[in-house]
Amino acid sequence: MPRTEFIATGFHVPERVVTNDDLAQIMDTSDEWISQRSGIKARHWVSDGETGATLARQAALQALAKAGMKATDLDCIVYCTCTPDHFEPGNGVFLQRELGISDIPAIDVRNQCAGFVYGLSVADAWIRTGQYRRVLLVGAEVHSRGLDRTTRGRDTAVLFGDGAGVVLLGPTDDPKRGVLSTHVFADGRHAEKLWVDGPGLAHDPFVSHELLDQGFHLPHMEGRDVFKFASVKMPESVAIALKANGFTPADVKLLVPHQANMRIIEMVQKATGLRDDQVYANIQRYGNTTAASIPIALDEALAEKRLARGDLLMLTAFGSGFTWGSAAIRW
Ligand code: ACO
Repeated sequence: MPRTEFIATGFHVPERVVTNDDLAQIMDTSDEWISQRSGIKARHWVSDGETGATLARQAALQALAKAGMKATDLDCIVYCTCTPDHFEPGNGVFLQRELGISDIPAIDVRNQCAGFVYGLSVADAWIRTGQYRRVLLVGAEVHSRGLDRTTRGRDTAVLFGDGAGVVLLGPTDDPKRGVLSTHVFADGRHAEKLWVDGPGLAHDPFVSHELLDQGFHLPHMEGRDVFKFASVKMPESVAIALKANGFTPADVKLLVPHQANMRIIEMVQKATGLRDDQVYANIQRYGNTTAASIPIALDEALAEKRLARGDLLMLTAFGSGFTWGSAAIRW
């Protein structure tokens, strides 16, 4: 059976940069509060005309160009997002249309901040079994339009940013390289600890002025619980992936964790026993871009030459659901 290798990466964020000081102009917050609690200094927000699919298109074209491939070479799109452009259909088909291709399958993965690791798990299984050869794995989000950008929503509004990251995946016969294993988990008992209630068909009518006035369409987060679980489950899943492959923390060249919060990343680093140089963080510049955060960070880490052929790369993510997971990859 072949393994799945990363052929190329790409990312795209909107031009518009929103700093903590910019946010302090529109809600009761401060650069000091945001920096101390999250490590975030700035994030990117979309402007008119930009959507999740247009951000993903830019990221995809970059990766295709790096790989010397055309969109028509793709066999499948796996699109991970929790902020779709529309209620239905999923965003994979909108990206497909943006890329000017048709007929290949496009699947949406709805696992929020853990979306990219879940998507990798799906794409890896398809590639290893030979069902598809060239898979475009996408993490793309437009949070800014869905946030409560007033003081009422400041606990979440300051954390999230917009952006898209992609990886092009394909089979390799080199037994020493590629995705070694993926490990994904969920615990629905905590679904309401970080969620967007509606519009949803659990409500009848599924949307109403009354529900909108209550803010049921805005993210609701019990931040401390999210923090607590993320700080435990991410390192736990890294340990599971290391053990499954017979590795120790000393074998890791780079851990690219989901960029949720700098304090969570620091807790993950401590619990996994990794050094500063073994953990990548760029949350300062982008905020939390949920499913896009790992591919964006990976692209930047590669540009900074933090990974070389043969290095051990670990990924881990945690998000709403709760859902979480990890992956071990021999670069
Ligand atoms: N600016 C200023 N003050 C604020 C802001 C803000 N943006 N947001 C909340 N506050 C206030 C609160 O109202 C509260 O005020 P009070 O004491 O007068 O009631 C005070 O700050 C402290 O609020 P807490 O919620 O207790 O602050 P905490 O120390 O828990 O930090 C935070 C909040 C940063 C959200 C933290 O809980 C956290 O990092 N949680 C993880 C959340 C996360 O990363 N979510 C991302 C999605 S999931 C994922 O990616 C893993």
